[in-house]
Amino acid sequence: MPKLPRIAAGNWKMHGLSADLAEARALAAAFPEPAVEVLLCPPATLIARMAVTLGGSGLRVGGQDCHASDAGAHTGDISAAMLADAGAAYVILGHSERRADHGETSAEVAAKVAAAWQAGLVAIVCLGETEDERAAGRTLDVVAAQLAQSLPEGATPANTVVAYEPVWAIGSGRTPTEDEIAEVHGFLREQSPDPEIRLLYGGSVKPDNADTVFAVPGVDGALVGGASLKASDFGAIVAALARA
Ligand code: 13P
Repeated sequence: MPKLPRIAAGNWKMHGLSADLAEARALAAAFPEPAVEVLLCPPATLIARMAVTLGGSGLRVGGQDCHASDAGAHTGDISAAMLADAGAAYVILGHSERRADHGETSAEVAAKVAAAWQAGLVAIVCLGETEDERAAGRTLDVVAAQLAQSLPEGATPANTVVAYEPVWAIGSGRTPTEDEIAEVHGFLREQSPDPEIRLLYGGSVKPDNADTVFAVPGVDGALVGGASLKASDFGAIVAALARA
């Protein structure tokens, strides 16, 4: 199987109103045929319109979470089938903010991943250690457990992407050293059910450190938060990935 393209994924988190679709439009205009896989994951309210905005460009859309069930009495939740129906091709699952804010366990994440696959979505499964866990030398144990417990049987390079996001690096402006990223990515590659499953790094990726991050062995792209909100910043990161 040919190697899959690297990925630049933007996680808008709880940011984005209609006016911000202009950023998606500008990004699509800058990369009408991106050399890498590029996607934006806006809040659920913007997914359908984002899909229309990006339609015809090579850029794709993703959700930020889904319920494990197809449909039902789950007020406020969104199913994977609904995301797909709105035009999403991917869904971020198990982000540390959901694990922290909503007490999501890896077992719950695994159920959501299975639902995503069922709906034909690519699951971007997030994992990463807290600062205390790293200080205690437990990073590899933590990510190994999260990986094993968050992926159901059946993960393939076509249906799954894993994002290593150290919790302490998210939104902090701090990043692990290149050696630290390489160590975790190398380890996750060994632990992964398939070595071709793409491994993204996430946590304070910016235009000025993107080249450095993408040069780390084993990094197949990035999951970007704050710097994905502006087309100019995210575009610079996409360009860095394309030339890496
Ligand atoms: P920042 O890029 O803002 O640090 O966020 C990373 C992240 O959580 C992406 O999912």
